Amino acid sequence: MFETLEALSPDAILGLTAAFRDDPRAQKIDLGVGVYRDEQGNTPILKTVTEAEKRRFATETTKTYIGPPGTPGFNALVRKLMFGGNHAVLKDKRVAGVQTPGGCGALRMGAELIKRARPDATIWVSDPTWANHVPLLGSAGIKIETYPYYDKQTRGLNTEAMLAALAKVPSGDLVLFHGCCHNPSGVDPQRADWQEIAKICSERGLTPYIDLAYQGLGDSLDDDAMGLRIMADACPELLVASSYSKNFGLYRERVGALQIVTKTSAEVSKVQSQIDSVVRTSYSMPPAHGAALVEIILGDEALNVAWVKELDEMRERINGLRDVLAERLAAATGQDFSFIQKQRGMFSFLGISPEQVTRLQKECGIYMVGSSRINVAGINNANLEYFLESCARVLK
Ligand code: LMR
Repeated sequence: MFETLEALSPDAILGLTAAFRDDPRAQKIDLGVGVYRDEQGNTPILKTVTEAEKRRFATETTKTYIGPPGTPGFNALVRKLMFGGNHAVLKDKRVAGVQTPGGCGALRMGAELIKRARPDATIWVSDPTWANHVPLLGSAGIKIETYPYYDKQTRGLNTEAMLAALAKVPSGDLVLFHGCCHNPSGVDPQRADWQEIAKICSERGLTPYIDLAYQGLGDSLDDDAMGLRIMADACPELLVASSYSKNFGLYRERVGALQIVTKTSAEVSKVQSQIDSVVRTSYSMPPAHGAALVEIILGDEALNVAWVKELDEMRERINGLRDVLAERLAAATGQDFSFIQKQRGMFSFLGISPEQVTRLQKECGIYMVGSSRINVAGINNANLEYFLESCARVLK
């Protein structure tokens, strides 16, 4: 039967990792997949994660199943992290949720739940959005549309066009927002924008679906959850897909969560039973290890403080690189790159043509996504000059 299948092209992001690995050039630079890298170019295991693993190995007594929702402790702690301890949705007990295999697992489980609850709804995603959003959500059989987001001229948010488009989204549809650190553009709405967005969503009866994959890597854990909290204040229903790949460096352990805010606390058990069933009929239940580490860290005051410090260091390194790149790229190419400094998270578009992206890869061994998205964290003191020289050569 497999003769009916056609070979597919490599994944737009993951394919770059394989191509980079096979490139023999010593000076090659990987600015592709979104993983944090330190000054040495490594993606280290956080010290707090290592400590949590030690505690886990010392205290774990069983490998029995944990059930479709994952552990109650994990779900409660990540809710507190995203909504803040005092948010009304927590006090009012209006949240159902599941621990998931990564943020992707959360996004897909959310889409499957939406399919059960409102099969004809459309999910509106920003233009552009993360390359895997449409395949991941669309594979659940949901219709996807886009709303304008990024302004190629200003390299910022196309606020007017976005708000005008959202004001026309049919009632009952869902709108996917990046909670912070927009992937791929690095352009985030400001407080006033979030307030406008929330007003439109609440007035039109649109359900926000928030992808929170980079909390803590933009400005701070609380600042990066501002949009989500504003939306949760204004809208009666909401879904949040969160990932702990980046902020805990737990990429391969696949740790995420889907939290669902319901209109009333009376609806929570019904929604919980449905999302448990979605999980049970997809992969039965999530893996335990990575989420257990997050639970240990968030549940221990001293470890929590130490983790926030490690997260601060990652973020400060990225934001420091943004300053360096904005200044040095301008000096090297004679073009304006000040937008890099204003953007947040791991990614920015360099704003160069697909031909220039190809030349950087072919001639210089510098790998980035075809849209010219770079992972800022891939730059370090050892490769900066070569990166600048290469950009100067290709861009001038
Ligand atoms: C990225 O955008 O590079 C990351 O989110 C990793 C991925 O799975 O694509």
